[in-house]
Amino acid sequence: MTTKTTQPVQGMSDLGPPEIHIWQEIEQTTRRIMALYGFEEVRTPIAEYTQVFTRSIGDTTDVVQKEMYTFEDRGGRQLSLRPEGTAGVMRYVAGFGPDAAGLRLYYVGPMFRCERPQAGRRRQFHQLGIEAIGAPNPAADVEAIALQQHVFAEIGLKGLTVEVNTRGLPDDRAAVAKGLASALKPHLGALCEDCRRRYETNILRILDCKQQTCGEIVKSLPPVTDFMCDESRRYLDEVLRLLGRLEIAVKVNPLLVRGLDYYVHTVWETRHPALGAQDALSGGGRYRIDLGSAAVEGVGFAAGIERLVTALAHDASGGARRSGHVPIWIVSHGARALEENMVLAQALRMRGVVCGIDLAGRSMKAQMREANKASAGCVVIRGDLEIEKGIVVLKNMKDGAQEELDLPEAIERLVSAGRVEVLKS
Ligand code: HAM
Repeated sequence: MTTKTTQPVQGMSDLGPPEIHIWQEIEQTTRRIMALYGFEEVRTPIAEYTQVFTRSIGDTTDVVQKEMYTFEDRGGRQLSLRPEGTAGVMRYVAGFGPDAAGLRLYYVGPMFRCERPQAGRRRQFHQLGIEAIGAPNPAADVEAIALQQHVFAEIGLKGLTVEVNTRGLPDDRAAVAKGLASALKPHLGALCEDCRRRYETNILRILDCKQQTCGEIVKSLPPVTDFMCDESRRYLDEVLRLLGRLEIAVKVNPLLVRGLDYYVHTVWETRHPALGAQDALSGGGRYRIDLGSAAVEGVGFAAGIERLVTALAHDASGGARRSGHVPIWIVSHGARALEENMVLAQALRMRGVVCGIDLAGRSMKAQMREANKASAGCVVIRGDLEIEKGIVVLKNMKDGAQEELDLPEAIERLVSAGRVEVLKS
């Protein structure tokens, strides 16, 4: 098969202007809100030993069985590109031993899942997420949901639904599997091939099958909490009570189990009308991960940034986002003017003024077109003639008014105009 060398890999995208501005806003907002809650950034490698993922996410999950990019390094060791952020962060915090408790970490970065290409499913996508390390505590789970909702609100998302449920304690698993097995037995013939396999290997995974027929059967099942112990149910009740105290509206989805095996107690997913029923904006929950040499627990969530951007474009508030706006544009006429204007642009930028200049010696008409494209509020016109006269022409792009100033005066004016622009943005 021939590959086009100008195209990115299927399911992976280049990211540049103008969308990059929305991404940068999302990331800046995320970092600001994380600091309010005392979360610090962590950057782990994009590849890990495959076992880091199989041990935590679970051998029989779709992510591990079908979606990981796995390869051998030169020493014959199996590595995988990270399909999500939690496992790598757990590998990192396990190194802290008992001191890991209380760590509050966040991450923003690319993840890789070799999914069948379809709308909303990328092979390289990006997550922003948190992990708060520590023993089970409903208040910590609620704080994580509150933080997630704070980030979403600040980036301008509306119309979200948070669905919450519990995976119960590890000791509940056998009872839940047994209860589901007897409830699903009469429907076995109608399940998809994957789910018939899941019935034997990991019955819980049937609950998040994306096939419509399986989805219909799943809707008729009893809530998983029916098969759990009182302690697990009480934990969920406390989470719901505290969410009420913080006035965070959620919907209990008694069949939400999430597609990763490491969860215990609280799990949640956030939906948005722009994404349809199958795809979530974010997913999270409390987890307990046994890495072999160490076990780590905590609570966290991750949101897909591509999906946040889709949801924002759908919400009215997401429509009017800034793109590459340049407040001041310098237009030159003649070779000498171009060189002098380059010196002027450098002087302005060194004083914190965002300005644009065409260095290719294009026509004045083409340069004015660039200024308009950048929505410049002020254009500096300085040709060889102006250089000889020792003046600078400033053109106000709103009303077309022009003034002639000497160079030092023009610089002062541009610096203060540039500062006002920065304050406004
Ligand atoms: P997840 O539900 O697998 O959870 O992924 C979280 C979010 O990543 C999803 O809700 C979705 O927005 C985005 N996402 C996942 N796969 C894709 C894809 N192929 N294309 C585009 N976006 C995608 C986790 O990853 C857990 N580590 C979350 C977590 C953190 N739980 C506890 N701490």
